[in-house]
Amino acid sequence: MASDSSQPSPLKIGIVGLGPFAQFLAATFVKQGHTLTAVSRTDHSLIASRLGILFFKSYDQFIDAHNDVILICTSILSLSEVLKSIPFDRIKGPTLFVDVLSVKEHPQKLLLQAIPVESDLMCTHPMFGPESGKNGWRGLPFVYDKVRIRNEDLCSRFLGMFQSEGCRMVEMSCEEHDREAARSQFLTHTIGRILSEMKIESTSMDTKGFQSLVQLKENVVRDSFDLYSGLYVHNRFAKQELKALEHALEDVKQKLQEKMDNTLEENSRSY
Ligand SMILES: NC(=O)c1ccc[n+]([C@@H]2O[C@H](COP(=O)([O-])OP(=O)(O)OC[C@H]3O[C@@H](n4cnc5c(N)ncnc54)[C@H](OP(=O)(O)O)[C@@H]3O)[C@@H](O)[C@H]2O)c1
Repeated sequence: MASDSSQPSPLKIGIVGLGPFAQFLAATFVKQGHTLTAVSRTDHSLIASRLGILFFKSYDQFIDAHNDVILICTSILSLSEVLKSIPFDRIKGPTLFVDVLSVKEHPQKLLLQAIPVESDLMCTHPMFGPESGKNGWRGLPFVYDKVRIRNEDLCSRFLGMFQSEGCRMVEMSCEEHDREAARSQFLTHTIGRILSEMKIESTSMDTKGFQSLVQLKENVVRDSFDLYSGLYVHNRFAKQELKALEHALEDVKQKLQEKMDNTLEENSRSY
């Protein structure tokens, strides 16, 4: 039988940091027929073999696997430390580096300093995770910035892995991403964390609105605190959103207090 020449050949993808999110992505990449290797701080060899991934304990072996793409999936807070341990000088030939961190200016800056000049860089943020993407990726946003791309073919084959799953592809600069994500994702996580501190739980008389709040709380606490704090520490736009939230709470409290004072005064006058 003649082979289907329209099918692109599988990619060799090396994952740095095989945590929960990388495992979630990897399951789909393996299903698509790509060859995966991984390296991580923790020994994830059992999980890797279950997923069909070759796990290396050392960066030297990982680099010697000659990957087309090196996918950086570590936590935001550990990126700088992780990049220091990668022996970039062992990499032979141009490679496409891609990161999936939930902030974008920070990895863009560090990766441009660290990776070999002949390597390409794309900064991405799949705007979904193991919970929101558990029934497939159709319609879910995939944000990317082609920071330094010379091998367009390899880059579009990588993007095709998300396109073919039905993701909504959104190209934007790392700066634009961080500005928008501070107002959407960081705010969402912050409200969820506040609700978790308040220990809200379902009641026997939940309104739809309250059910959404409980759901939000449950979703955000599934992500590590490292992830959440990374959204604040390494997104320069997050601080102003936190301040805006504090001011908004103060404004709402003040409006309530004014209403209460006026009501009490009117009531006392009518007696
Ligand atoms: N979860 C999501 O829904 C989601 C969605 C989009 C993007 N992301 C991004 O994907 C990345 C991974 O997220 P995650 O959910 O898997 O959880 P995470 O807590 O943000 O990151 C866990 C990963 O970071 C590694 N790590 C943590 N501290 C380290 C250190 N000191 N040295 C070396 N490695 C370290 C862990 O390695 P070991 O496992 O080997 O210990 C693991 O691979 C993050 O950058 C996150 O922003 C996550």
